[in-house]
Amino acid sequence: MSRDWFPRSGDETPHEHTHLVTPARVYFNNVLSSRFRMIKVKPLRSLVTPKPPQFFMVWVPGVDEIPLSVADYDEKSISFIYEVKGAGTNALSKLGSGSYLGLKGPLGKPLNIVEGFSTLLVVGGSGVAPTPYITKYLASRGCRFEVIWGVKKRSELFNLGSVMSGVEYIHIATEDCSVGYCGMASELTRELVSKYKYDLVIGVGPKGMLKSLCEVTSGLNTYVVLETMVKCGLGLCGSCVLPNTDKLLCVDGPAFRCEEVMQYLRT
Ligand SMILES: Cc1cc2nc3c(=O)[nH]c(=O)nc-3n(C[C@H](O)[C@H](O)[C@H](O)COP(=O)(O)OP(=O)(O)OC[C@H]3O[C@@H](n4cnc5c(N)ncnc54)[C@H](O)[C@@H]3O)c2cc1C
Ligand code: FES
Repeated sequence: MSRDWFPRSGDETPHEHTHLVTPARVYFNNVLSSRFRMIKVKPLRSLVTPKPPQFFMVWVPGVDEIPLSVADYDEKSISFIYEVKGAGTNALSKLGSGSYLGLKGPLGKPLNIVEGFSTLLVVGGSGVAPTPYITKYLASRGCRFEVIWGVKKRSELFNLGSVMSGVEYIHIATEDCSVGYCGMASELTRELVSKYKYDLVIGVGPKGMLKSLCEVTSGLNTYVVLETMVKCGLGLCGSCVLPNTDKLLCVDGPAFRCEEVMQYLRT
């Protein structure tokens, strides 16, 4: 069997000839909006199929290794949506078609998405990055789902439909009331969950948004996808310990039930 290390809990068992590290060649690396870029790469060796919200450590040669969530995946390619923040993502944004980077993953635990679940996905900030792959996966599991996308203002929006398929309805919520629902994504969530029944609520976004989401969906089956400093991605270094919990984001997450991380979200 050709594989690079053992799978962790929740991983699909690697098949013969699947790998957990591989170089990958850049197909394209485009601007998606004023805030986000999308990079699509071709792994040179076949990977274990990721399940949302698993992530990869993306090695930008000579610069850094950064955690990025899967935005799309098929047998030939994998895509990431990212925001340029510092040295690593800035160097990533400079990689042109034909350049190489390194991939390590998929890392973290998949969400347990039961076939046919009625799901509400609430995203904000860079939480929009894994949305296309989460919705693709929900559709493949026969789940009915709706998306709430919360932004501060209209100019942060881009044509999410152009990078994802199968979405029945996207509710837009803007904090400055420039388009869609006037208010926070969590406030719109409160209205929807009071009217409709969802088997599962998933939140991806900034900590404050996820705290509010947990509060307004109290008693429901809600998972929040968190971000923190991830260095090894393998449960070795302790960089990703969530304060006030005994959880390591890279192996216990990145998705957690609200009850598991409420103390962390409150800090
Ligand atoms: C599991 C996981 C999945 C992620 N998926 C995505 C994704 O799909 N798209 C995306 O755009 N970003 C994602 N991120 C965040 C991304 O990894 C960071 O923005 C990136 O590592 C910053 O690296 P840098 O070298 O460009 O900036 P740095 O110089 O390392 O950091 C720039 C600034 O961002 C802050 N920062 C760095 N990492 C984080 C973090 N994890 N959370 C909050 N602030 C941070 C630093 O404190 C600093 O202020 C994810 C993070 C995690 C942990
Ligand atoms: S990043 Fe090293 S233990 Fe999680």
